[in-house]
Amino acid sequence: MVGIATPEAAQPDLSGLEPGRSAIPDVALVLTVNSRVRELTIEPRVTLLDALRDRLHLTGTKKGCDHGQCGACTVLIDGRRVLACLTLAVACEGKNVTTIEGIAEPGSLHPLQRAFIEHDALQCGFCTSGQILSAIGCIGEGHTQSDTELREFMSGNLCRCAAYPNIIRAIWQVVAEQTVAGDASV
Ligand code: FES
Ligand code: FES
Repeated sequence: MVGIATPEAAQPDLSGLEPGRSAIPDVALVLTVNSRVRELTIEPRVTLLDALRDRLHLTGTKKGCDHGQCGACTVLIDGRRVLACLTLAVACEGKNVTTIEGIAEPGSLHPLQRAFIEHDALQCGFCTSGQILSAIGCIGEGHTQSDTELREFMSGNLCRCAAYPNIIRAIWQVVAEQTVAGDASV
């Protein structure tokens, strides 16, 4: 019969380990964030959100709940919106990560940034970067066939200041601008 390790034998030797560190060795990681290649050495358990905020100092992506419930940490990976708090940084190697810091052109805000300002679509602003990145994804996915659909597909992004009506107006403005311009991308 194959021996089964006792609980004692299965325990790794954690003596000498820094408090708060895991016993798993760090890994080298290359991320492409806002078109810039960034090299990191991190624990494999680090989320994309913590890698962005704490290692790369891109603090525009916010940590609200850290549990996938508020949408404040929304970023784009290869153009699709994801929750950075539920995504491991190591899973993003070889992919393009876009954060709020990467959407404006030099000297010119992204249309959604401009529309949010014009429609006063924020109060405290904590949810705003997530709202804007999610709106970029939502428009790209084509979920703008109706007001109901847009609201449904933006419903993962919570706003404690309840700026929802103005957020939706801002998004519709950009959709309308694109329609006039015949542009499907934002
Ligand atoms: S911080 Fe990621 S969903 Fe709330
Ligand atoms: S503007 Fe304050 S949480 Fe949305």
